[in-house]
Amino acid sequence: AIDIQDLRARTGYVTLDPGYGNTGSCQSAITFIDGEKGILRYRGIPIEQFEEGPNFVEVAWLLIFGHLPNDAEYQNFAADLTTCANLDESMKHHFEGFPRSAPPMAILSAMINALSCFHPEFFDLEDEDHFRVAAAGIISKIRTIAAYAYRHSIGQPYIYPDPGLRYVPNFLHMMFSQPYAEHFCEPVVRDAINLVLLLHADHEQNCSTSTVRMVGSSQANLFAACAAGVCALWGPLHGGANVAVLEMLDQIHRGHISPEDYVRMAKDKDSKVRLMGFGHRVYKNFDPRARMLANVAERLLPTLGIQDPLLDIARRLEEIALEDPYFIDRQLYPNVDFYSGIIMRAVGIPTNMFTVMFSMGRLPGWIAHWWEQSRTLGNKIARPRQLYVGPGVTDHVPRDART
Ligand code: ACO
Repeated sequence: AIDIQDLRARTGYVTLDPGYGNTGSCQSAITFIDGEKGILRYRGIPIEQFEEGPNFVEVAWLLIFGHLPNDAEYQNFAADLTTCANLDESMKHHFEGFPRSAPPMAILSAMINALSCFHPEFFDLEDEDHFRVAAAGIISKIRTIAAYAYRHSIGQPYIYPDPGLRYVPNFLHMMFSQPYAEHFCEPVVRDAINLVLLLHADHEQNCSTSTVRMVGSSQANLFAACAAGVCALWGPLHGGANVAVLEMLDQIHRGHISPEDYVRMAKDKDSKVRLMGFGHRVYKNFDPRARMLANVAERLLPTLGIQDPLLDIARRLEEIALEDPYFIDRQLYPNVDFYSGIIMRAVGIPTNMFTVMFSMGRLPGWIAHWWEQSRTLGNKIARPRQLYVGPGVTDHVPRDART
């Protein structure tokens, strides 16, 4: 047991809040969450209003600049995204240096850092116009990097961005137009990916966004901060959860386990099994993003005529859990990762790219937070304290006298 009096005597009065569960690290005007009521708002706009509304690029603008873009702002930003879509040709050699099996998140983080070497003009951002071009550059190029990472992993040639295509269609083009995958042109596919991206665009002080703010607090440049955000998102407790959902479905399928038996295991504490994609730390009644993606999945799967045993298992797990008192009593509902995994699988995004897609979606949030912080007067470098629990004063012992 920790002797708090002794600790305070040695360390002083420091608040201990592991995982910062109850510590507000900043003031922010970007995103509002009420987990009890299942509310998520971007700049005050309830997330549900995005279902039929703006596209990902408009939402990116909203988060970063604080208001929905008017037509001129939108057209200019879309044009900036088109202009910036290509990577410097020599960056292709960087991709070739990675083994085919390299985790795409490692490539993504490395390449965002590499971008900074090609764009030193964005190290010191003089004003909002300058920042806008930098933001467009990184939002546009992360899409190209993501698609190139995939092309590299399957040993296929890179497909250049098409200046005639908007954000999501251009991404699907770079991923799938060679060899040709017909479904990528389907409006229902584009709409689904658009919604997946925009529903991931910000979630206040989550692990990766806090990382971006922490790195940015040292006045590190936008590329460095976003590359750090990718690394934070990589972990299975954060962005990697959607991969865990698919791994669970695969395990059930390969092991010929019935969904009923798997749910039974998930209720048995000794089994250490959890129903991945169920439950959420903040949303205790429902995850509003999950509701919206569930609707999309319902439309998408029949339209694409998908017959996939893993998706059948997912549907069955959902049915069983939603009626099971164990899950109802503990307020465990499918979360955003459950449905985003299903949608990306249905569209043909390989599982190891799921977290990369999450990064593309979360990027506008990271940029918005980096900018908000860098413009906050009196911004301080993030420097948490600790409660020291190691030994007291101890004498150095010469090496030949050590036992
Ligand atoms: N399957 C089975 N039981 C569960 C699950 C689950 N997915 N989630 C929670 N429980 C049970 C716990 O065993 C516990 O039961 P008990 O009260 O009988 O001991 C109770 O529900 C509360 O669980 P906690 O772990 O205390 O809930 P917490 O809010 O801390 O955890 C979390 C939330 C981590 C998301 C958890 O629900 C979980 O592990 N879910 C599966 C993983 C997952 O989908 N993660 C992605 C979350 S979304 C995101 O982060 C982007």
